[in-house]
Amino acid sequence: MDEYYTGKIAIVTGANSGIGYAVSEELLKRGATVYMAGRNPEKIARAAEQLSAYGERVRTLVMDVTKQEQVQKGIEETAAEAGRLDFLFNNAGVGGTLPFEQVTLEDWKTIIDTNLWSVIYGVHFAVPIMLRQGSGHVVNTSSIAGIIPPPFQALYSLTKYGVTGMTECLKYEFAEKGLHFSTICPANIATAIFNKSIDGKTHGELRIPDDAYPVEKAAAFILDRVAEQKGIIIVPEDPNTDVWKGYVLGDREVEERLFQMARDRREAFEKGGTYF
Ligand SMILES: NC(=O)c1ccc[n+]([C@@H]2O[C@H](COP(=O)([O-])OP(=O)(O)OC[C@H]3O[C@@H](n4cnc5c(N)ncnc54)[C@H](OP(=O)(O)O)[C@@H]3O)[C@@H](O)[C@H]2O)c1
Repeated sequence: MDEYYTGKIAIVTGANSGIGYAVSEELLKRGATVYMAGRNPEKIARAAEQLSAYGERVRTLVMDVTKQEQVQKGIEETAAEAGRLDFLFNNAGVGGTLPFEQVTLEDWKTIIDTNLWSVIYGVHFAVPIMLRQGSGHVVNTSSIAGIIPPPFQALYSLTKYGVTGMTECLKYEFAEKGLHFSTICPANIATAIFNKSIDGKTHGELRIPDDAYPVEKAAAFILDRVAEQKGIIIVPEDPNTDVWKGYVLGDREVEERLFQMARDRREAFEKGGTYF
């Protein structure tokens, strides 16, 4: 499957850590040139430095994905410099597990800008380039919370359902034009996202869940499925993530699991403890 990536040009947003960094490394292993994009110049330079063994194929872009002009500039300058753009991984994002009562309107704006407008900007500026080429693959990161609604994640889930819906629509709309779209729906992947919270709010202890899936394995799995041009990519695929099918079908047992999760999270928040 490496031939899907060898010699190709890819942009990965949020590439300085977590899934974005691991996907960048895996793309490099598979022969792509990777423009690692991050909002913080020092952080992205440090991340690229760790991958300097890949030489000229490692590039960096300073790009705050909430800023339309920075996303446009990054995408258009990359395509101009490299002569094409084969992959855009709209990966950057922030989490947000909070009781609805504590969510401010500023929180809604921040998360929508970071998780949803970022993807809209990316797609808006990459698609015309890919259409001119007659090829390209956009890979948008949603979440398992973009296909099933975890309680206390209304904020996050809103953005991720948006990403799933948009990406799936475009997959069908552009299929005849040589463009491909994939939606990544991670469950719990072991990254720093669990140690952060929107606007620095920490409600209880934030920690990586014990059963979180290793990020390097997630990146390899993602690229294998992207190379198969799969639409929705759930990672990891296991009985726990498979419950989304039951949810879509209105399965009462799945609903009961979600009610129980809500009770557990409410109790944890009220105690000020961890919500896992
Ligand atoms: N890990 C999971 O279990 C999980 C589950 C479902 C979905 N996801 C999704 O996977 C994606 C990657 O998350 P992760 O788990 O790898 O978390 P992470 O390690 O925290 O990485 C998030 C990345 O996004 C970047 N970012 C945030 N806001 C940005 C902005 N305004 N402009 C540019 N970059 C920005 C961060 O940069 P800074 O370092 O500068 O903040 C960081 O590089 C996210 O979209 C997340 O929602 C993750």
